[in-house]
Amino acid sequence: MQRTLTITRPDDWHLHLRDGDMLAGILPETTRDFGRAIIMPNLVPPVVTSLDALRYRARIIDLLPDDDDFLPLMTLYLTEGTDPEDVAMAAKTRTIAAVKLYPAGATTNSDSGVRDLDRVMPVLEKMAGIGLPLCVHGEVTDPHVDIFDREATFIERVLSPLQTRLPTLRVVMEHVTTRDGVAYVNATRNTAATLTTHHLIINRNTLLVGGIRPHYYCLPIAKREAHRLALLEAATSGNPNFFLGTDSAPHTDPAKESACGCAGVFSATNTMPCLAHVFEEADALDKLEAFTSLNGPAFYGLPPNPGKITLTKQDTPVTFPAKIETDAGPITVFDPGFPIHWQVA
Ligand code: NCD
Ligand code: ZN
Repeated sequence: MQRTLTITRPDDWHLHLRDGDMLAGILPETTRDFGRAIIMPNLVPPVVTSLDALRYRARIIDLLPDDDDFLPLMTLYLTEGTDPEDVAMAAKTRTIAAVKLYPAGATTNSDSGVRDLDRVMPVLEKMAGIGLPLCVHGEVTDPHVDIFDREATFIERVLSPLQTRLPTLRVVMEHVTTRDGVAYVNATRNTAATLTTHHLIINRNTLLVGGIRPHYYCLPIAKREAHRLALLEAATSGNPNFFLGTDSAPHTDPAKESACGCAGVFSATNTMPCLAHVFEEADALDKLEAFTSLNGPAFYGLPPNPGKITLTKQDTPVTFPAKIETDAGPITVFDPGFPIHWQVA
């Protein structure tokens, strides 16, 4: 049985770091294991312009210890008022690594998102021209569409027509949760997907059977087991178009444990040990490095991190904090529902 695994230092290609006290409290949870992360722009107010991104990046870097070389890769929040020239300038100066499309109202802090794709075509055409990736939250917001069908319907109604119209646009379908999403990525050029830690582990029963468990509520919502198995197959396949984006999305416990709880799972603390467990169970430990450390940089046109991390397997379960205490409040850490034996040395 394999007891140690040394891999290239991983990156997180979809992360919510928030701002202020929460940012300060949770940043070390990511920088401990990860070299870089794509930082989501859904602050209140959102990160819309290149100047917003520069300022947000400075707030993150200010909180890093001097000897920490963690690199936040910034994104812009696409709005119907986004200026294509500002996006092009931010890409050229490497202020940003991608632009994020939120359909208006699809998820947490997405009110300023896009209602009519026609209005952002000049930005998307510019991005296609310069090769800047578009990260997509792939869910429709039509109230008539069932929440469990919103990803599949988005592909059919929005994403597929957009990519037919603009086939050179490079797209990352963020946090894919369905076999439909996996199939779409496999069939479409210039398209990759991130997969989260929790969607590889939980299904909708984990969320709803025996009582409603708010710390497993996230968007896109966890689907049925057949979908989880399709995600697992994609993650462990070695296919370069699938890579890790934890979507670690902290909300304080009072905001989650409420009659109308916020969406988001916080998995930064124990993602690598959870993934080592999952990949080992799938007899695919040899594919973990591609998923967490190689496929993402290749898609984004960046070199893999220079450093390495070593995961070791312990005889007795490793304990992780149940909560991270921040000055914004306590944040519950993702519980995979199984004992974890792997730890990052
Ligand atoms: C994210 C958040 O809280 O910002 N929540 C979530 O459930 N994933 C937003 C998002 O990525 O959809
Ligand atoms: Zn997210």
